[in-house]
Amino acid sequence: MSQLLTQYPEQDSPAAPGGESRVRRAAARPFAAPRPGATPSAVRSEPPSGFAAKLAAMQELNGRLTFMREAENVFQEVMTAAQSILGYDICAVLIHEPRDRTLRIRAWRGYADSVEGVAVPLDRELGLCRLAFREERPIYASDVLSDPNYFLADPELRSELVIPIRARGGPLGVFDFASRQLCAFADEDVRLCCMLVDQMATCLENIRLFDELASTRDAIILGMARLAESRDGAMAGHLDRICAYARLLAGELSRDERYAGLIDEEYVETLTRSSALHDIGKVGIPDSILLKPGRLTRDEFDIMKTHAGIGGGTIEEMIQRHGSLFMLKMGADIAWSHHERWDGSGYPRGLAGEAIPLSARIVAICDVYDALTSQRIYKAAIAHDQASGIVCHDAGSHFDPLLAALFLRLASEFRSIHHRHRD
Ligand code: C2E
Ligand code: SIN
Ligand code: SIN
Ligand code: SIN
Ligand code: FE
Repeated sequence: MSQLLTQYPEQDSPAAPGGESRVRRAAARPFAAPRPGATPSAVRSEPPSGFAAKLAAMQELNGRLTFMREAENVFQEVMTAAQSILGYDICAVLIHEPRDRTLRIRAWRGYADSVEGVAVPLDRELGLCRLAFREERPIYASDVLSDPNYFLADPELRSELVIPIRARGGPLGVFDFASRQLCAFADEDVRLCCMLVDQMATCLENIRLFDELASTRDAIILGMARLAESRDGAMAGHLDRICAYARLLAGELSRDERYAGLIDEEYVETLTRSSALHDIGKVGIPDSILLKPGRLTRDEFDIMKTHAGIGGGTIEEMIQRHGSLFMLKMGADIAWSHHERWDGSGYPRGLAGEAIPLSARIVAICDVYDALTSQRIYKAAIAHDQASGIVCHDAGSHFDPLLAALFLRLASEFRSIHHRHRD
């Protein structure tokens, strides 16, 4: 065995995704990445017109990939392209899992036996996938049966091309192309496969950055909201409940044909997060009022009412400095208008009906239901039935009647959210 492995002195035994049985080995043939302008191989199987058509198809693919937000969808799209554009039916996406130091198969096609979830440990033997990952270059075995680094997932396979999914900060994993033919990958095909994988890498990198940014944004916004709420008696459960109520109500609204065009999944997600901002303006209310155990005087309540504009104004300042993000715009609407009333008798601006942003009308119901069913420094909690009775009674005066009707339909779910997120 050792003499067969001279080209890869660091390895001690072969392995590949999917199997450890039926291992065969012979001479290794690492593939060097093609240089730009390299002469196309004599064994190329596609005429130039085919090459141009494939390039065009890959450009089209790039357009679709750019808008994808789920890595799983990207894997599927790229595997479909490997098949339909390049003609490779057998492939797998292996993603690096730093925590257990493996390359794990996250998507695959065309193998005779399932390779679902198979993990290739990086620490031990060096297979084609590990080699491509570790050395960050494509590895081509034109005849896997004579390659010592190979282990068979499928005894029919004859050639294999493994390409690292390169990103800033190191490869994310590898893309494994395989074929039942010997020498299935001409230089030109290898170049196209590399292009395909690079497209995928860019797209996965964008998704990662996007997700990280979104998580950071959510963490900061929720942290800001919690900080604002930490001063008054309301417990952390309050924000969790408001977000859960808002999601429930908006989700139901998205299935209502009257709102079909207005509320989509993004609206529901954004509302769920930005509803936490409704009371951030309470940071500007003095303790003597905010924490007063008893009933507020008229003057005190006038000051209390300024929390809507303080919160809305603060978020609007963020918008002026940083641009109007959907979430900030909605946050400002909610902070400004969650105490407006359907009949125009609310504050701070006395907006009425649909002049009150829909997001704020939704949060108004969630906020009042939660205030009623929770203990506050100035009041005791009341029971669910009594609270929903108040929402029902105030439909059309305080609340948007359509939303209040929706609330009543969902009342038992509000009750279970309340119980699940007790303070
Ligand atoms: P909050 O405690 O979060 O209450 C939010 C909203 O829930 C209230 O907005 C009100 O519309 C509704 N709500 C709360 N408790 C009751 C209730 O017992 N009956 C009915 N029908 N509705 C209720 P509102 O009135 O604009 O108050 C805004 C904020 O002002 C309150 O937020 C709370 O922080 C403060 N606040 C209101 N009244 C008092 C008070 O008497 N004493 C103190 N210390 N704070 C008060
Ligand atoms: C109160 O003023 O007694 C609290 C009720 C409310 O916030 O509307
Ligand atoms: C705003 O003016 O930015 C808030 C929207 C509204 O309450 O009308
Ligand atoms: C509505 O008023 O029904 C929708 C407009 C909004 O999002 O505020
Ligand atoms: Fe409020």
